[in-house]
Amino acid sequence: PKRVTLRTLRTKYANQEPISMVTAYDYPSAVHVDEANVDILLVGDSAAMVVHGHDTTLPITLDEMLVHCRAAARGARRAFLVGDLPFGSYEVSTAQAVQSATRMLKEGNMDAVKLEGGSSGRVSAARAIVEAGVAVMGHVGLTPQSVSVLGGFRPQAQVADEALEVMQRALALQGAGCFSIVLECVPAPIAAAVTKALSIPTIGIGAGPATSGQVLVYHDLLGMMSHPHHAKVTPKFCKQYASAGKVIQSAIQQYRDEVASRTFPGTAFSPYKIPDAEIESLA
Ligand code: KIV
Ligand code: NA
Repeated sequence: PKRVTLRTLRTKYANQEPISMVTAYDYPSAVHVDEANVDILLVGDSAAMVVHGHDTTLPITLDEMLVHCRAAARGARRAFLVGDLPFGSYEVSTAQAVQSATRMLKEGNMDAVKLEGGSSGRVSAARAIVEAGVAVMGHVGLTPQSVSVLGGFRPQAQVADEALEVMQRALALQGAGCFSIVLECVPAPIAAAVTKALSIPTIGIGAGPATSGQVLVYHDLLGMMSHPHHAKVTPKFCKQYASAGKVIQSAIQQYRDEVASRTFPGTAFSPYKIPDAEIESLA
């Protein structure tokens, strides 16, 4: 299949064709996303939550992200690959940001990186990474890596000064050379206004229908977790396209029951033969 590149994405944007993005974190999830012809595969730091079981995205390290990136890259033959720079890997200096971003390409086999926020420090980091030759996707609105200063996961830009800040940050990131910007958990009219103001595609999540594209987290989209004691709340904006968790749970339950009752493997799944004479000669 022909690979999706920045040129492909620019063409889609120019033709006002919606851009699709889904997260993946390993080989099988990447195969699923890639085979569905999703344009952008994001190895998100949401891995910290949906794969590693943390309550926030903060604990995942760059080295852990690189393992996810390499595995996902092996499963993707077509999608454009974006890897999230995790918390702590780009805030210290532009040099640190460039070093982390180049590792995402050299060791993670990504095509581009994503970073959160649009303060002057983040804009400088984005500019330095782009200058180093790495394509950067921005991310404003709800930026989960800032949960400590935001005071929790909550929608953003519901008051005028916050909405203005989202707009200014998106414009600043575009100015720094970002090829696209994620808008997370902002009111639809604000996402529409930002999308209109920019000349690069916006990718929305909980941002309404007017963005240039949409993104969902793999596990949320698939309804992977519906277990009362483990379920992470599925965000209000997430449509569940399947109940994959239920399918997986009942398959494993059935296997367990068949082992307990000696129904499995039975003769049907015991394929290896040995001639009777050989068995007799063992005696
Ligand atoms: O990590 C992630 O999954 C993300 C998307 C929600 C945009 O950053
Ligand atoms: Na992320």
